[in-house]
Amino acid sequence: MGRLAQVLRLVPPSTDPRVLVDIRTSDDAGVFRLTDDIALVQTVDFFTPVVDDPYLWGAISAANSLSDVYAMGGTPVTALNVAAFPPGLMDADTLGRVLLGAADKCREAGVAVLGGHTVEDAQPKFGLSVTGVVHPDRVVTNAGAREGDVLVLTKPLGTGFLVSAVKKGLLPADGYDRVVASMGTLNRAASEAMMAVGVDAATDVTGYGLLGHLWEMCLGAGLGAEVVVERLPVLPHVEAMRALGAGTRGPRQLYEHLGCHVDLPSDLEPWLRDLIADPQTSGGLLIAVAPGRAEALLAALHERGVDDAVAIGRMVGGDRIRVVGASA
Ligand code: CO
Ligand code: CO
Repeated sequence: MGRLAQVLRLVPPSTDPRVLVDIRTSDDAGVFRLTDDIALVQTVDFFTPVVDDPYLWGAISAANSLSDVYAMGGTPVTALNVAAFPPGLMDADTLGRVLLGAADKCREAGVAVLGGHTVEDAQPKFGLSVTGVVHPDRVVTNAGAREGDVLVLTKPLGTGFLVSAVKKGLLPADGYDRVVASMGTLNRAASEAMMAVGVDAATDVTGYGLLGHLWEMCLGAGLGAEVVVERLPVLPHVEAMRALGAGTRGPRQLYEHLGCHVDLPSDLEPWLRDLIADPQTSGGLLIAVAPGRAEALLAALHERGVDDAVAIGRMVGGDRIRVVGASA
């Protein structure tokens, strides 16, 4: 988006026919056909600490990095740690706990951590490079949505507000437990459900918020979308934390980029306007499914314990995102 997109235009895209998905579609991961039956899904993600607890930071980073493979319908198989740490924190209590949190989350996912790379940096950063596999004919991209598809979101929104609230010492303990659990939850069950039912498109909701990632889905499909704001799943305390000053610059930046493509109801409450643009850490999958399969998808998600999964809107003709109230 923006400046980065301009820079990437300087790099000629690969002409290798085995490249099935690359940066050209702003998708979650790259996909490379290895044989007629196996394609590699590759992704890398790393970021600054979201919580003080090093173990939880490692686990959340791992869940977030693995998510890009799940969003493409792939099965992650191996991972490499990517770490930048101040020399004073390269000890067992900090870097060691981060790596352990990531390793435990990878073990839960059935992913082997093969190694990694650590450099010195004043500002700590951590994440994973993940390799997965998928059948070349079963790749789910963010570009395949069709008009009329139902949009399903699998995790509640609000992590940007709540992580900011944690850093300001504002978030009550029950809210902290809930947001950490949500960010640490793998999108594996959600991905398995969508692959079992068959869907048209998917992406995971991360740094560009619900609106930003939905907009990429719209661009990829040449369609617009409608989001029913009352249906959105929300983590507890978001409205109260925003009122106390928690939040990021994310929503404002997103509306500067996308505002001209989004129609908001004139009476939309400001916290909801910000919520749909709130940058998510390790957010849920946003799935576009044919209307005839939407009930089956929701049942498959709930059966697998993805309890917050809910239909939030649909793909429509046109080239705008329309945010509407419950009655529409
Ligand atoms: Co992603
Ligand atoms: Co990513």
